[in-house]
Amino acid sequence: HEPSFHDSSSSSLSVDTETLQSQIDELSTFSDTPAPSVTRILYSEKDVQARGFVKKLMNISGLSVREDAVGNIFGRWVGSEPELAPVSTGSHIDAIPYSGKYDGVVGVLGAIEAVNVLKRSGFKPKRSLEVIMFTSEEPTRFGISCLGSRLLAGSEELAQLLKRTVDGQNISFSDAANLAGYTNSDDFSSIFLEKGSYSAFIELHIEQGPILEEEAISIGVVTAIAAPASIKVDFEGNGGHAGAGLMPKRNDAGLAATELALAVEKHVLESGSIDTVGTVGILELHPGAINSIPSKAHLEIDTRDIDEHRRDLVIEKIHQSALSISKARNVELSEFKIVNQDPPALSEELITKATESACQELNLPYKKMISRAYHDSLFMARISPMGMIFIPCYKGYSHKPEEFAAQQDIANGVRVLALTLAKLSVS
Ligand code: GLV
Ligand code: MN
Ligand code: MN
Ligand code: MN
Repeated sequence: HEPSFHDSSSSSLSVDTETLQSQIDELSTFSDTPAPSVTRILYSEKDVQARGFVKKLMNISGLSVREDAVGNIFGRWVGSEPELAPVSTGSHIDAIPYSGKYDGVVGVLGAIEAVNVLKRSGFKPKRSLEVIMFTSEEPTRFGISCLGSRLLAGSEELAQLLKRTVDGQNISFSDAANLAGYTNSDDFSSIFLEKGSYSAFIELHIEQGPILEEEAISIGVVTAIAAPASIKVDFEGNGGHAGAGLMPKRNDAGLAATELALAVEKHVLESGSIDTVGTVGILELHPGAINSIPSKAHLEIDTRDIDEHRRDLVIEKIHQSALSISKARNVELSEFKIVNQDPPALSEELITKATESACQELNLPYKKMISRAYHDSLFMARISPMGMIFIPCYKGYSHKPEEFAAQQDIANGVRVLALTLAKLSVS
C-alpha cells in the first residue's frame, strides 16, 4: 500500500517553511526569561499561553482537539477507517530554564505542519492521524521527566507518586494543575492508554548532538533511546560559623556533596564506554551564606547509558560512594532516592523502514543512530511501536539558548515525517 497524493508523487509534499518558522518564533516568546533564551515551566502562565497557541494551530489545521486530565493535548485527523488504531506523532513544548526554542517544539509544530502538508497534497488517511503535545517532558518543576507520556503508558507508580509530589515552592501537583485549568488532574486512570491504542508513534526532534551536522546528513533514523536515570541525594552536617568553627571539628555537608559529584564523574569514566554519561546538574547548599558552614547539601544526579546494566552498575557505585563519604566525613546521608531508573527503548522496524523509504523517495541522505537524550518516545514505546526522526542542529547545541536548527533542515524533517505518517496510515 502506497499513499496517494494529487500528482501521485511525494514531490508534492511542500512545507510552508516561513509560516512554520514564524510559529516557532512566536511560541518562543512565551518565556519567563529574555530571548534568545526560553524558559517554559509546566503549568506556569507562559506554559498555559503556549498551550493555547498549540490548540489554536491544531484547530486551524482542522484537527479535533482533546485534552486529558494533566493536559496532554491530542489533535486528530479522522481517517477513512476510524475504527483502526490511529498513527500518532508529537513531542513537547516545555523548556528547561535558559534553554532554546527548538527542543520538542519542532516535533509539535512540525507535526501540525506535516498534517497541513498532507492535506495540501490531497492525501486522505486511512488510519486516523493524531498529533500529541505531551505534558512536561522536562523534569524541571516536579523532578519527574516525561510526566505526560509516563502516565499515557499507564504508570501506576507515577500516579501514586503524584498524589504527594510538590514543587520547589511546596505547591502540590494537583494545585499547580488546577491553577492551569486542569481540575480533574488526580483522575490518573482516565489518562492511561491501552497497549494497541496506536498502530505507530513517531517523534520528530532535533538531534541535540553534533553527528548529523558534522557528517552533512539530513536525517537521523533513531534505532534506540538510551536508558536514563536520576537520583536525589541529601547530606546533613552540623553547620556553624565559618570563622569560629575549627577544621577538625567540622562535618561539612557541602564538601560531602562536592566529593560525591567528583565520584559520579569517576564512576562514569570507569565504565570505559563513551556511551556512559553522568551529570550533577543541581547542587544546593544550605543556608547558602559565605560565612556559614553548609549544614545541608542537596544534589541531583542524571546518569544514562545505552547499556542498562552498565548504567545500573554506575548507580550502585554512586550509592556506595555516598555511603562511604558520609561515614568518612561524619555527615548524615539523609536521602538517597532513585527518582527514575528507566530501561532503554528500541524502535520498531516497521517504522524505521517506513522512515528510511521516505528518505529515499525524498532523496535525503540519512543515517541510523541512537538517541542519547530521552524523549516521550521512550514511554510511548511501552504502548505502541515507536520510531524517531532526527534533524541536524547547530553544533549539536541543546538545553542552552544557542540551540538552533536551520529552516531547510526543519522542512526536510517535516517532509520525512509527513511521508512516514502517510505510509503508516495506509498500511
Ligand atoms: C530531556 O530533555 C533530556 O533528554 O534530558
Ligand atoms: Mn530537553
Ligand atoms: Mn526534547
Ligand atoms: Mn528530552
